Amino acid sequence: MRLIFLGPPGAGKGTMASRLAHELTIPHISTGDIIRAAIQNGTELGLKVKRIVESGDLVPDDLTITLVQNRLAEKDADRGFILDGFPRTIPQAEALSQFSSVDKVINFDLEEDEIIKRLSGRRVHKASGRTYHVIYNPPKVDGKDDVTGEELSIRPDDQVDAIKNRLAVYEKQTAPLIKYYSDRNLLANLDARPAPDAVFQALTAITS
Ligand code: AP5
Ligand code: ZN
Repeated sequence: MRLIFLGPPGAGKGTMASRLAHELTIPHISTGDIIRAAIQNGTELGLKVKRIVESGDLVPDDLTITLVQNRLAEKDADRGFILDGFPRTIPQAEALSQFSSVDKVINFDLEEDEIIKRLSGRRVHKASGRTYHVIYNPPKVDGKDDVTGEELSIRPDDQVDAIKNRLAVYEKQTAPLIKYYSDRNLLANLDARPAPDAVFQALTAITS
């Protein structure tokens, strides 16, 4: 199964992708996670895009396209994949269509006030990418990762100014993909408002 998870920031794409990928034993490919790891490791790519990502803008199309093309060429993507956060522009979608087919595009639907609540309460364990929420999905011990006990942190782009910018960027550059994939009969809408288990159940029904 080759899936794309489309949707505004904070809609739960990463949370659901990691669960579903585990269940289907296919890779969860998050361009955001790959880019954040590059920033953390101070690679050439990371240094180039750090400021852009922290302000909530998109990194240039050619960089993400190359990154995804290389990742999909790896052996583990042969059986399928979940692309989380790519494509995010029409040129990215057009480029993807040149090197891979897609079975379904899941459109996570969530309104702005709930997005802001989810992003401002998010806490992450940097090393593993595990994601928590102070109210909706709290860790067992306040501020600590359940598995390692290490400190949780706040993503730099979860500050209020960056959140607002990400929402504007989403509307302008990414929302047009809803029509793009709907025109190609690939779009399935997912109501992202319910609690995680209910969203996951609906997602499983759509993708099975
Ligand atoms: P990326 O990492 O993709 O960020 P995003 O799209 O803004 O999405 P988020 O990761 O913020 O949200 P999510 O939908 O994954 O929600 P989550 O599951 O964490 O991209 C970051 C940046 O990288 C971009 O801004 C850009 O600079 C760059 N980038 C990446 N890809 C790019 C591309 N293709 N082109 C150009 N630039 C690119 O959930 C959010 C919170 O809600 C969590 O706390 C979670 O615990 C909680 N939660 C989840 N589900 C539920 C639920 N059902 N009920 C209650 N709480 C929930
Ligand atoms: Zn994410």
